[in-house]
Formats: sequence, C-alpha cells, structure tokens
Amino acid sequence: MELTMGSLPVANVQALAAASRDVPERYIRPEAGAHPGFADCGVDIPVIDFSRFLDPDSSRDESSKLHLACQNWGFFQLINHTVPKEVIEKMKLDVREFFQLPLEEKRQLAQVTGDVQGYGQLFVVSKDQKLDWADVLYLNTQPAPERCLRAALDNYSAELKNLADRLLEIMAKNLELNPDVVTDKFKVGIQSIRFNYYPPCPQADKVLGFSQHSDADLITLVLQVNQVQGLQIKRSGEWFPVMPLPGAFIVNVGDIFEILSNGRYKSIEHRVVVNTERERLSIATFHSPQSHAMIGPLQELVRGSGARYKTVNHEDFMKLFFSSKLDGKSFLDRMRY
Ligand code: OGA
Ligand code: NI
Repeated sequence: MELTMGSLPVANVQALAAASRDVPERYIRPEAGAHPGFADCGVDIPVIDFSRFLDPDSSRDESSKLHLACQNWGFFQLINHTVPKEVIEKMKLDVREFFQLPLEEKRQLAQVTGDVQGYGQLFVVSKDQKLDWADVLYLNTQPAPERCLRAALDNYSAELKNLADRLLEIMAKNLELNPDVVTDKFKVGIQSIRFNYYPPCPQADKVLGFSQHSDADLITLVLQVNQVQGLQIKRSGEWFPVMPLPGAFIVNVGDIFEILSNGRYKSIEHRVVVNTERERLSIATFHSPQSHAMIGPLQELVRGSGARYKTVNHEDFMKLFFSSKLDGKSFLDRMRY
C-alpha cells in the first residue's frame, strides 16, 4: 500500500456531533470499554516546580525529583513555569474562538493532501480504520513558521520552545550527557502545535477522542483549555485519568527521548476519553531535535548494555512513523532491536 504522509478526508466531528445523536459505527471502539469515567479521582503524577530550578538551594533536589519522574512515570505536571499567564490566556481564547467559527471558515485552513498540517483529522490512513472523536488544527510552528500566524500563537510558540529547551537541558544533565550532545540533540529544532477539539458524544464510553498512542517527539507540553477531564495514561496495564492542576502543563517524555536515552526514560502510552455533555479543548505542543540530528541511542548511554533501538535519520524516522500508523504496530516497537 502506498504511504501517505498525510490524512484521508473524513467527516468533521464537530458538525457530526451537532447534527445528530447517532454515533456512526466507525467511531465505536470495542477497547474504549468501561473507562473510569470522569470521577474526581485521578492518578497523582509527580508535580515539578520549575521555580525551584532557579534557586541554587533547591535546584539539585528538584532535578533529582525530575529524574525520578522521567524514569518512573514518563509524565509530570509542571507548575510555576516561565510562560506568562497572559500568553496562555490569549492562546486559550484564540483556540476557543477558532473552533467556534463556522465550518466554512475553519475549512480555509483545511489540510491539503499529503500534509498533516491544517484543520481536519489526524492519521486517517485507510478507508476502514476506526476513527477518533475529535477535530484538530495541526501546525508546524518552529523553525520559521510557514503560515501566517496570529500574535498569540507566535508568543505561545516562542515561550514554550524556551521552556522546553530549559527542561531538556536539565533532563540531559540528569543523564550526565556531555554538552556537545546536548547542543546537537536536546535543543528544540522542530516544534508543532496541535489544537484538539473533542465534541461531546452521546455514547462517550464507546468512542475515544484520541486513541491509544505515544508521542513521537522529545517532550510534549499539554495545556488543558477548559476544565473537562479526558486524558488517561497507561500504568501497569491500566488506564488512569490525569487531573491537571490549575495553570500547569502536563509534560511527557516522547519516543525520541526514550530512544536517545536508550530506554532510561520511557515514552508512556496515553489516550483521551470524551464527555457526554461537554466539549473538551486542549493544546499539545511537540518538540523534536533539528531535522539533521540522527535519532538513535546516545553512545554514552549504550556502553555496557548495548543499543536497544536502531539509529535512523529524520527522513526514515518520519517514514517509520507514518507506516506504524498504517499497520497499527507501535512506532517504538519498529525502532527496537
Ligand atoms: C496529543 C495528546 C492529550 C489531550 O495530542 O498527543 O495526547 O489531553 N493530547 O488532548
Ligand atoms: Ni499524545
């Protein structure tokens, strides 16, 4: 089968949800099962306080907390970070406004064939695959935006890149990597932002807003736009809801980090469930190394144990990533020896 690096056109979910209470068969997923629902009890993922990195008295302590969080969880909440409240609030406002626009206007930013960028749905690669109950706006935001971006997006993108760079530096230090490696692989080269819109669904427990996946980047920072819970992470084979703290980013280690660290830090599978009554919005910002960086286990972390993953260039990485969407076999499994 031919490999498309884009997504096949399918129904707009927001319009579908507004038009009828019937949920088409293509969205019904056996594995959605009885999920824990929207209870107030979630799993308490570690909380990392960014301000403690800036204080010499507490930075060592917070760094080792971060190291343990990355090793044992792959997910943490980041509070007291550097992103100004105004930048976040303006971004939230704009994203709400965007999804409230009439369909015709949103479609001016529609995905074009062969590109995942734009407004639409993600990773639809075959005519019979199950579909996610969500619409997305996906944009490559760094380097040099190719689209004309609004100021809110520019600011948000720059602030998150800066924060991600600082986090990556601390994470690399925790792994005792030498500075050259850090400059080459642990600096944000590529950033993309995905605005996720999950309409309410009358059969919420039968569909998934975003089916099980891990993120294919170095680190992801997720901002929940409204107060509707939906993110679940997989831990010891079970799904646990994550309850974001106000103003926090949910941060997770991505596949590229897992590979570079030769498995020391894990990229954890997660998914999104939807609500029967309320829409949910989130902003996921993905950070990857520059496109010339080779993706493979770092020499200094391979010694003794041997490489557990292959080494590939950016182009082959993208090909493997998209083919994993085709056959449903996990991308990390394809990279593993
Ligand atoms: C993603 C993702 C989580 C969310 O976009 O990769 O996992 O809460 N999103 O929407
Ligand atoms: Ni994700």
